[in-house]
Amino acid sequence: MRLGSLEIKGKCALAPMAGVADLIFRDLCYSFGAAVTVSEMVSAKALTMCDRKSEELMSLSENRPAGIQIFGYDPAVMAECVPRVEAFHPDFIDINMGCPAPKIVKNHSGSYLLQDPLLAGRIVRAVADAASVPVTVKMRIGWDVEHINAIEVAKILEANGAAALTVHGRTREQMYAPPADLKMIQAVKEAVTVPVIGNGDIFTPEDAKRMYDETGCDLIMVGRGAMGRPWIFKQINEYLSAGAYAQDPTNEEKMGIMLAHAEKICARYGETRGICELRKHALWYTKGLHGAAKLRGRFSTVSSMSELRLLAEEVCQ
Ligand SMILES: Cc1cc2nc3c(=O)[nH]c(=O)nc-3n(C[C@H](O)[C@H](O)[C@H](O)COP(=O)(O)O)c2cc1C
Repeated sequence: MRLGSLEIKGKCALAPMAGVADLIFRDLCYSFGAAVTVSEMVSAKALTMCDRKSEELMSLSENRPAGIQIFGYDPAVMAECVPRVEAFHPDFIDINMGCPAPKIVKNHSGSYLLQDPLLAGRIVRAVADAASVPVTVKMRIGWDVEHINAIEVAKILEANGAAALTVHGRTREQMYAPPADLKMIQAVKEAVTVPVIGNGDIFTPEDAKRMYDETGCDLIMVGRGAMGRPWIFKQINEYLSAGAYAQDPTNEEKMGIMLAHAEKICARYGETRGICELRKHALWYTKGLHGAAKLRGRFSTVSSMSELRLLAEEVCQ
């Protein structure tokens, strides 16, 4: 798939996920074959105030291509933050028009913008004019089922310079249920000429194939399906290219991946903060593992690397 002059090789992107897909997790997903990743969303307004936390969110490694996602509602502020974003050398800048969280929507950002397509278009125009890299948008299909306007919004975004559109096949009101509407993703794909990335409910390689087959999209994007299962990218790549894929890693292998993940988190953030960050990942890595249910309470309060190693050993016994 091409984003302007940038070529994205590979078949499956990691979705931006605030609080989950930090630099360490994104690098882990690249190591399993993710084609491209996007940072957690960063507030354009906070960036113009030189917020340190936002700068941490924008750190990228040598693994590429990688995008930085921004959110906001004021075209001038969105444009103003572009040089600060580009200082982190993203391959593209993604604009969030899908976040359903009340605190974001209340500020006329994220999926609120689906209710104001002209403002959404002005934002894309302002960011694209200020940026030297391609600008993409991640959107939902509408505000609610009475206002499904993804085709109208997509055309406006394309006309204002969006180089690609990621479509999560749900409305804002639907949050994360019912199942993603693949027909609407297909309709957007047919309505625009820029690449369309299909997103929503890809939890297995078969789901990935269905997204490609039923929507004709140019790339697919996995979010929750990669939580505690970064190897899903390898399985998806194998299935899409060969029609078969290796089963999940063994419990021992999963615990090895989790411990390596934990070591990298601790090296980046220090052990105290790192282990706190790791707890949620540990719960996802161990979900459904035989014998792990009784250890969940201990995983959710684990406080050191040595304790985590002991718990991982118990899972494998
Ligand atoms: C914990 C969490 C955090 C998320 N954070 C973001 C975000 O920062 N930016 C964004 O565009 N979407 C965000 N999303 C939405 C995902 O990128 C994706 O669109 C959604 O989860 C649907 O894909 P899935 O069914 O593969 O999970 C988030 C989703 C989850 C579950």
